[in-house]
Amino acid sequence: MPMPRKLFVTTALPYANAPFHIGHMMEYIQADIWVRFQRLQGHEVHFVCADDAHGAAIMIAADKAGKTPQQFVAEIAAGRAAYLDGFHISFDNWSSTDATENHALAQDIYRHLRKEDLITVKSVEQFFDPVKAMFLADRYIKGECPVCSAKDQYGDNCEVCGSVYAPTDLKNPYSTLSGAAPVLKSSEHYFFQLSSQRCLDYLKGWTQAPARLQPEVLNKISEWFKVDEQGHGGLADWDISRDAPYFGIEIPDAPGKYFYVWLDAPVGYLASLKNYFDKGGAKAKGETRSFDEFMAADDTEQVHFIGKDIIYFHTLFWPAMLHFSGRKAPDKVFVHGFITLGGGEKMSKSRGTGLSPLRYLELGLDAEWLRYYIAAKLNSHVEDIEFNPEDFVARINSDLVGKYVNIASRIAPFLAKHFDNRMPRLEIGSFGLPAASAGFAVAVEASQSIRQDFEQREFGKAARKIMEVADAINKEIDGFKPWLLAKSVATDEMARSQLGQICAGSINGFKALTIFLKPILPSLTERVEAYLNSGPLDWSLLNLPIDGPSFIREGHEFGAFEQLMQRVDAVKLGRLFETAPEAAGAAPDTIALPLPGGEAIAPTITIDDFAKLDLRIARIVACEKVEGSTKLLRLTLDVGEPAHRTVFSGIQSAYSPAQLVGKLTVVVANLAPRKMKFGLSEGMVLAASHTDEKSHPGLFILEPHAGAIPGLRIR
Ligand code: 2FM
Ligand code: ZN
Repeated sequence: MPMPRKLFVTTALPYANAPFHIGHMMEYIQADIWVRFQRLQGHEVHFVCADDAHGAAIMIAADKAGKTPQQFVAEIAAGRAAYLDGFHISFDNWSSTDATENHALAQDIYRHLRKEDLITVKSVEQFFDPVKAMFLADRYIKGECPVCSAKDQYGDNCEVCGSVYAPTDLKNPYSTLSGAAPVLKSSEHYFFQLSSQRCLDYLKGWTQAPARLQPEVLNKISEWFKVDEQGHGGLADWDISRDAPYFGIEIPDAPGKYFYVWLDAPVGYLASLKNYFDKGGAKAKGETRSFDEFMAADDTEQVHFIGKDIIYFHTLFWPAMLHFSGRKAPDKVFVHGFITLGGGEKMSKSRGTGLSPLRYLELGLDAEWLRYYIAAKLNSHVEDIEFNPEDFVARINSDLVGKYVNIASRIAPFLAKHFDNRMPRLEIGSFGLPAASAGFAVAVEASQSIRQDFEQREFGKAARKIMEVADAINKEIDGFKPWLLAKSVATDEMARSQLGQICAGSINGFKALTIFLKPILPSLTERVEAYLNSGPLDWSLLNLPIDGPSFIREGHEFGAFEQLMQRVDAVKLGRLFETAPEAAGAAPDTIALPLPGGEAIAPTITIDDFAKLDLRIARIVACEKVEGSTKLLRLTLDVGEPAHRTVFSGIQSAYSPAQLVGKLTVVVANLAPRKMKFGLSEGMVLAASHTDEKSHPGLFILEPHAGAIPGLRIR
């Protein structure tokens, strides 16, 4: 028995500003399958994650929601369990980058880097919002394109003509936070010297270590290392500081300066692990060392699962930060691609706002269908995978239900009816196996290569091989025709014995398949374990010979057989992609909701009447006064569709554009568009007001709780 490995595994820490989307779930499922596989090999695994809580985006979102960043983040965090439990993600710990452990660790790492002379201070000139009294990241600056003069373009590129430029090139720039014209202002910034020879030398060695990074990741990194003949390119120093106000961790000995969110985010991996060690979580798994001892040990393997968009942070900054602060750097960084939904345009137009993992669960779709489907599509490369509903239905119904579960559905009734629900007597055939166990033999033979596939994250290959085993078992059942044998068992001893052999062979094959599938289907395999009455299955049970523990013994009693998995209902799956009716539009202004004293409650309607109203969450991405109108604001709304909508709303008396930009609200999305003097209005924003606005002024537009996203339907 080889020594158990000691694994510290993480997934990227998700920003705490929105609920999970399908991309998060894909990463968690990929990592969870790998982790469960390692646990089933008998290895010691500590699998942790945390919310990525800091940064300007979260601070601003919280401010807009009228909350402290801590409150805002806590509300998002409270929603995490529904996803993680729902999809059976087996994290051992979930923390936050705002936890005390992270403050202490980030500051400690920084102090070491400073001691190593790897921190420098430089003055940086940047746009500053005089109203909000804060420096502005590029994404909070808009203005006119310096090339084509298109209005409302972001600080880095023009969506109209495609030009790329610096925010300082914009004409009439304004802050999207306050609407004010930003001013240039300089301040001291702290830099981590990634460009130093020491960092370069170290990172070249670290990245090249055998089997550490995927080949395509290494290629990418070698481009980053490249310096051309003019001396351009290569690694640049990294700006790790941000000025107050900022939601983050204070830089030691630098009042008013905070770590840039990406400095403390990966430290959150360590902080979450430390939090878990200190709570006794690791000890409960047999780990006797302290967090520091565990992290310093040679036999600890640190493995990060991440998406392809954050390679730079994890393969350059992060190992350098760890190494030069006297810590061990990661052993492996496993990079995956994105999950796409039916190819860009087609998907977004015809299939609504994408695939909401929570909606998936709410519709009663089986979480393990998605786990299997994603597994069957994944390989060890940085490739995007596509979610295709038709393919999804076919995969689940043919593989899981038609091949795997089918074996038990075929055999269980014979065991119950003719063998007292017990394992029949085994007759040993030529290879020391029961006579009818070609399928089982195929399983044992494939087990080594399936094991390797799991280890290498070639889950698609593993799934294919597992289904080949299932095919072999089903074929053997077909050959024996147990349904015919069953007819004559009462009178024909030979038939009875043959029926016993095919049942014994198949059910053992089924058990082997269950072991293979257990990392992917943890809940289904629990039900199978109950039926097999086997206790928890693991990989060690795949060993020959049959007098070992791998084979179910004669006389062993099975549990009650219940349906193990349902077929996918394509209609139900289709509901997941129900889209808003074609771009609708609406009257301008606001609709008046009944208020006490203002007007009576309107006549009763049925739920069907209500269902005709398509109310959606919308984000106000831009807002301006309408020239020539004292009442109207022109709102540009993101309703989760490919294109933004324009809506005119009579709320100028109550709101200035700057108060609304960035906020979420509710829009009637299926009102017919209405042509107005100022343009077409494509929807209606909901607001509360008194029926007699003159005598009772006051208009209040609706705003959802934190976590809602554009395009969600209100029901
Ligand atoms: O890209 C993201 O979603 C980041 N929140 C990932 C951080 S990973 C780690 F460094 F914390
Ligand atoms: Zn332009």
